[in-house]
Amino acid sequence: MRLLEERIQTDGIVREGNVLKVDSFLNHQMDIKLFREIGKEFKRLFANEEITKILTIEASGIGIACIVAEFFDVPVVFAKKSKSKNIAGAVYTSKVESFTHNKVYDVIVSKKFLTKEDKVLLIDDFLANGNALKGLIEIVKSAGAELIGAGIVIEKGFQKGGADLRAQGVHLESLAIVDSMDDVTGKINFREQ
Ligand code: G4P
Ligand code: NA
Ligand code: NA
Repeated sequence: MRLLEERIQTDGIVREGNVLKVDSFLNHQMDIKLFREIGKEFKRLFANEEITKILTIEASGIGIACIVAEFFDVPVVFAKKSKSKNIAGAVYTSKVESFTHNKVYDVIVSKKFLTKEDKVLLIDDFLANGNALKGLIEIVKSAGAELIGAGIVIEKGFQKGGADLRAQGVHLESLAIVDSMDDVTGKINFREQ
């Protein structure tokens, strides 16, 4: 998505350790006009699919998922990150190992809000190693729901998440794929797609 790539190149900041800061427009301050273009693009990419629910994960997936959901006219459910050991009640859970934060946490979704009738589109801001997305996929499977696909705003193509998920046959659409970036020059190379 050209508009998004231009915005990443203009306002994104490449940090040491292959971290891309996009908090001026994506995951701290949020540019809703850009989000609307993102929503429109996901709607185009998944135009032929029947979708009943959008599933994301807190925190930074939520804002994007809500704007995207307007284009699909479906509810958004966000998986909650839980640190408590004993999770009470009727919930689906999955363990996610965060590479960036070097910790393992449980993600939970109430059984009330995801059922076997659901056709689910996953939405998230970043895809790196893919652990968050794999956790969400496990939850979709536990619910017996159908996974339609996953829409990602920025994929870090040099980390393994995207390749893993495509190899598993997941219909993955990333609006911008960063193949490499340089924290000295600030130059970001995007995959042609
Ligand atoms: P993974 O889910 O793809 O395996 O990602 P990883 O554990 O490596 O990353 C953990 C968190 O860091 C995720 O957010 C992910 O979206 C985010 N992230 C990964 N690489 C980058 C990056 O280069 N720039 C930015 N801005 N974020 C990145 P999270 O822990 O779920 O936190 P939240 O911000 O959504 O609350
Ligand atoms: Na996220
Ligand atoms: Na994040």
